Amino acid sequence: MAVIGIESSAHTLGVGISEHGRIIANAKEMYKIGSAGMIPMKVADFHATNVRTVIREALGEAGLKASDIEAIGYTKGPGIGPCLRIAQVAAKTIAAEHRIPLYPVNHAIAHIEITKQLFNSRDPLTLYVSGGNSQIVALDATPYLHYKVLGETFDIGVGNMIDNFAREAKLTPAWGSTVAKVAEGGRYIDMPYSVKGMDFTFTGLLTNASKLLHSGSHSIRDIAYSMQETAFAMLTEAMERALFLTMKKDVTLCGGVAQSRRLQEMLRTMAESHGTRFFVAPNEYNADNGAMIALVAEKMHASGSKQNAAACTIDQKYRIDSVRVTWQ
Ligand code: FE2
Repeated sequence: MAVIGIESSAHTLGVGISEHGRIIANAKEMYKIGSAGMIPMKVADFHATNVRTVIREALGEAGLKASDIEAIGYTKGPGIGPCLRIAQVAAKTIAAEHRIPLYPVNHAIAHIEITKQLFNSRDPLTLYVSGGNSQIVALDATPYLHYKVLGETFDIGVGNMIDNFAREAKLTPAWGSTVAKVAEGGRYIDMPYSVKGMDFTFTGLLTNASKLLHSGSHSIRDIAYSMQETAFAMLTEAMERALFLTMKKDVTLCGGVAQSRRLQEMLRTMAESHGTRFFVAPNEYNADNGAMIALVAEKMHASGSKQNAAACTIDQKYRIDSVRVTWQ
């Protein structure tokens, strides 16, 4: 059973194909972000221009024809409205033309599920970190099987904090890896540290780092290092609390910011010190991609998830905890 998935929630246009839980294609094109950041309509235009080509590339990579595909999935949200619309329209068109089932996929769940699939981890405690989101989640069976949010950011995602700092410092995109490079060898300066139970906030930290940057009192290296260390320590502390609460046997890290080696190191140290396994997917699957959307669509399809045309919309704020998990 080959299932295709289309992802276009932000600057990446991805098309992946999965077959019996195995990724057999993962094609993508990325909109190049300039110093102005992402202009939604321009990114959506880029996706609209390239979507046919990337679908063709994915089919070629898998050695399949469009008529070999049994079902199709697309990212319903969360994400940027005009960008999300491109995958939705493309998927709806293909589903109608080939008379195959169509599945709306939650982007955060897709990041979590691909990591679970790669490491055969069935029930982990997950830290999902990206530009727009930072959440601690785990499966919960009450009142129905879903991903429960145990902790999350009260304001901006940790990726957004890093991007905003990088823009203030006039660094070049891609910002996360650029800030990490700048921070190498830095010395620690005290920064605002804000964890409430298993929730956290990042704007105070960003404001402080930006003020220090413009005051000229410290080097950009020390500021970037201290901001990053503080943010990642906050996430690790909240994850440690969640681990004690849930007693899960696995910890996973996923989403765009999961590509940070330093965050991986902190979480691995914390998890392993409690005898817990730690897993993080290769960068290819923590960056946005179509393969993870295909994988979840395949799980939805195989589990007999009901077809509901009315649910095949887009939702910029599509909450992970609003999704009923039918496939575990
Ligand atoms: Fe993502």
